[in-house]
Amino acid sequence: MRVAVLPGDGIGPEVMDACLLVLDGLGLDIAFEKGDIGLACHGRTGEYLPEETYDLVRGCDATLFGAITTPKEKKYVSPLLMLRWELDLFANVRPAACLDPSICLRPLDLVIVRENTEGLYTRIEHVHPDKVVTERIVSEKACRRIVEYAFQYAARNGRKKVSCVHKSNVLQASDGLFQRIFYGAAVNYAFYNKIKSDDFHVDAAAMHMVKSPEIFDVIVTLNLYGDILSDEAAGLIGGLGFAPSGNIGEKHALFEPVHGSAPDIVGKGIANPIGMILSAAMMLEHFGRPELSKRIYEAVKATLARGARTPDVGGTTKTMDFAAEVAKSLKSE
Ligand code: NAI
Ligand code: MG
Repeated sequence: MRVAVLPGDGIGPEVMDACLLVLDGLGLDIAFEKGDIGLACHGRTGEYLPEETYDLVRGCDATLFGAITTPKEKKYVSPLLMLRWELDLFANVRPAACLDPSICLRPLDLVIVRENTEGLYTRIEHVHPDKVVTERIVSEKACRRIVEYAFQYAARNGRKKVSCVHKSNVLQASDGLFQRIFYGAAVNYAFYNKIKSDDFHVDAAAMHMVKSPEIFDVIVTLNLYGDILSDEAAGLIGGLGFAPSGNIGEKHALFEPVHGSAPDIVGKGIANPIGMILSAAMMLEHFGRPELSKRIYEAVKATLARGARTPDVGGTTKTMDFAAEVAKSLKSE
């Protein structure tokens, strides 16, 4: 196995170093190959995503990605979005599970499966003198693909229910299409896999997630709704530092923490590395090694249970010290 490692900007390299320290302790048969990406890379090479990096990613079995900083430049297209489109990473999978009750606002254990290639993220904006019209694409193909992925994910992971989150009361044609396709697939999965289904308007879903999150298991939703709800879910389990994600395609997959480059804390060595570490755990699961993924999850939980906390949740543990504690837990299992 070959894995491309793209630390990126800001705290990206800090959480990546922590993640690699944890992986190191597992004695994996994986070659990790570093590549350059992002704003600092642009300063060095004149490009946000050099061809070399793109070739590296394409040649590897998966990619570990830290975070990048968005420049002020108007014509900028995020290299992360470019990778999602170019590699057709259509499913953005964002689990949010409470790792330690003392940190969480709510006892959450859900997975958001977000459509990752269209919706409002195509960035097609028509600027008129007096208004801006933004195109939002909802295609049948993308809806089918993400809905199938969500149900298969649920079936594979012993999840009991998939909820479709949309806004079809207002966006009747587009979100209505998504909802219809969802219930078309739901019939099969109810029959063959005993997986339940229901649906929520996105505003109501946001409320339920805070008030009664236990009603959710797997959520399948369109791009923007998934982006917003996954940060909400992250907030409920301690903050952005706790949230991992996977961008999955047919041939490629890229794993990254949900957070950004956090310029306000860069260079202090205090970033929470958990989102990055658990993203690597998701990658190992993707490689067909769920037992290794589980070991990492358990080691992170054990570390938190011993009281280690980075400053984002009121502690004093430094990024690399937290990682070293996780690595120690892995060894003592
Ligand atoms: P952000 O996620 O970088 O930070 C939001 C807040 O959460 C900040 O107060 C930050 O200190 C805190 N935070 C985030 N991750 C943390 C961690 N691991 N440990 C402790 N605290 C953490 O989002 P923001 O401020 O909206 O964006 C900053 C930059 O990152 C921007 O240039 C933005 O475009 C970029 N960004 C990049 C993403 C990516 O590379 N996937 C995703 C989101 C934002
Ligand atoms: Mg986001």
